[in-house]
Amino acid sequence: MQYDNLLVEEKDGILVLTINREKALNALNRQTMLELFQFFSSDDPRSSEVKGVVITGAGSKAFVAGADIKEFLDLDPKTGAEMAKKGQDIFFMIEQFPKPVIAAVNGFALGGGCELAMACHLRVASPSARFGQPEVNLGIIPGYGGTQRLIQYIGKTRAMEYLMTADMFDAQQALDWGLVNYLVPQEELLEKAFSLINKIATKGPVAIQEVIKLVNAHFADPGSGFDKEVEAFGVTAGTEDFREGAAAFIEKRPAHFKGK
Ligand code: CAA
Repeated sequence: MQYDNLLVEEKDGILVLTINREKALNALNRQTMLELFQFFSSDDPRSSEVKGVVITGAGSKAFVAGADIKEFLDLDPKTGAEMAKKGQDIFFMIEQFPKPVIAAVNGFALGGGCELAMACHLRVASPSARFGQPEVNLGIIPGYGGTQRLIQYIGKTRAMEYLMTADMFDAQQALDWGLVNYLVPQEELLEKAFSLINKIATKGPVAIQEVIKLVNAHFADPGSGFDKEVEAFGVTAGTEDFREGAAAFIEKRPAHFKGK
């Protein structure tokens, strides 16, 4: 399949998926989200020849700097909630994918980028990786599962702080707190992801599929936080504050929020 914003390369039975919008720090616009859906729902990564998938970002600065803020300006509560629901569904697809999916985090993993990395089964990071959920800077909330998965990985205390302050944390903190599996030099990032997938490929594929399902099942709580996140994303997407926050980002100035 041909994609505009994804590069797909096969290396020794491993598919490397590069989000390829380097000038926009690989921000996830609608087209990129559609292509992620197309890739994970296609037969290509499910082929018995494929051992697993590595997701990374083009260039040396960013994994993914979030959802594309420049596409946000016309959101209202309904379209905001729809966007969050679609994004969550795509990330659930990745989380439930029956073969290992590893995020190779090579720079900023913010907002939807941190959420994408958290939807993968494992994460390896380079020293330049920076994680965070900066949505409140824009007057919105994470909409692709960030309010739920960040707690799973770093615990309520830290998640509450980082979701409210919008601060970033670095690769060493992410390693210490259990968000990333390995921290390796930038030039060894893909190699480390490959070696993990190659090791997993020596195990029983059905057993691996079941492990993925079961670990995810531990956190499954239908109808809870993920659905509430969709509703709340819609609510915040309909506020004047959000329009001000997104405009301020684009105009490269501080936002002036009014609480409306
Ligand atoms: N959406 C659209 N464009 C983005 C972007 C994003 N999320 N992040 C960066 N860009 C663009 C910038 O607008 C800029 O484009 P121009 O050259 O055309 O001005 C280009 O990428 C380079 O970015 P900066 O000049 O800002 O680079 P920097 O080094 O000064 O800062 C950064 C890097 C700290 C990552 C900064 O770009 C930034 O804060 N980005 C936004 C991060 C963010 O808020 N992400 C959350 C988005 S909302 C979301 O993801 C909601 C959700 O859960 C679904």
